[in-house]
Amino acid sequence: MTHPYETPYIPPPYPYDLLDELRGLAQERFGSVIDCSIGAPVDPPTPAVVAALSTSNLERGYPPSVGTLEYRQAAAGWLDRVANVDIDPATQIGAVVGSKEFVALTPHFLRMRRPDRDTILYPEVAYPSYEQGAIFSGCRAVPVAVDEKWRIDLDAIDPADASRALCLWVNSPGNPAGGIDDLEAAAAWGRANNVLVLSDECYIEFTWDGPRRSILQNGVDGVLAVHSLSKRSNFAGARAGFYAGDPEVVHYLKEVRKHGGLIIPGPVQAAAIVAFGDQTHVEVQRDVYLQRLEIGLKLLRAAGATVEMPGGGFYLWAQAPDHDSWALARTLADRCGVIVSPGEFYGDRTDYVRFAAVQPTADLHLALERMHN
Ligand SMILES: Cc1ncc(COP(=O)(O)O)c(C=O)c1O
Repeated sequence: MTHPYETPYIPPPYPYDLLDELRGLAQERFGSVIDCSIGAPVDPPTPAVVAALSTSNLERGYPPSVGTLEYRQAAAGWLDRVANVDIDPATQIGAVVGSKEFVALTPHFLRMRRPDRDTILYPEVAYPSYEQGAIFSGCRAVPVAVDEKWRIDLDAIDPADASRALCLWVNSPGNPAGGIDDLEAAAAWGRANNVLVLSDECYIEFTWDGPRRSILQNGVDGVLAVHSLSKRSNFAGARAGFYAGDPEVVHYLKEVRKHGGLIIPGPVQAAAIVAFGDQTHVEVQRDVYLQRLEIGLKLLRAAGATVEMPGGGFYLWAQAPDHDSWALARTLADRCGVIVSPGEFYGDRTDYVRFAAVQPTADLHLALERMHN
């Protein structure tokens, strides 16, 4: 638990910078690095999306911070298609400059709205920006236990923390472990405790276990879902996503964010509309990630790790032999040039590593060959 404003805040080292030594080792051994540490897509967006970036004529004026109506309509249409939810583009959606800024800044904005609450709840094994956002807001960052399938354990939330909470983060399919949460239970917990539930659903289209789930399938009261084009459309470099849900909260956030100048560039909004409108490229991408995850399984098992296919997402969460994640990370760099992230980047799991299946399939095949030599 962190309570930051008692002492000056010193940003922690950026996790992926800590892997430079391993990158150096792989580079020295193989002359190149197969970097499976960061979840950055390497495949291209569709040509139509790239073309739209240069033909929108939206460079010279200021686009709306909340997103053009066309942007919000495209996002709502996509949500309806993938999750069968009916969202009003006029009142229930706002644009984000990639979902990370929303994760990092929203607790601060929520605290300004509700200063009597001072606690941010998030899964104990999670994408690190939930904790950082809590710290930026001056709130207490309180991790919530996860169960043996890496799902958030709502029963483990201390009622004293619930009564102080501004929001609860859930992330399903989850990064790093690929868990699939019960989002109906999360929405009900939030309503029962009068705590806003923020549901990070950026991997929704890479759900392998069962149907695609959104918290919005349980109504919009007291919940927001957060989505991104970064992963589904290989558009992380352009920065486009949105939040959707409770109209009162959407209204508040859209007003604050407008004052803060948080705006997706006009040409990016135009290109995003094209990306939201196309499903074919996502089907292709799903197959690509499944193939890469299968190779990753073989690679990690060959290195002695215990690992299964995730319920969703494009990461493998592997338990290291001898429970030593740094030793496994070093072995992979040394034997096949692959860089993975030690589990400590995502919470207190020093016995795990995270493998992101984001490198070209041919490179992963090469890594597997090296491993068997
Ligand atoms: C769980 C989760 N949320 C949010 C993000 C941020 O993505 P972006 O800011 O590109 O939308 C990531 C990126 O890896 C993620 O894994």
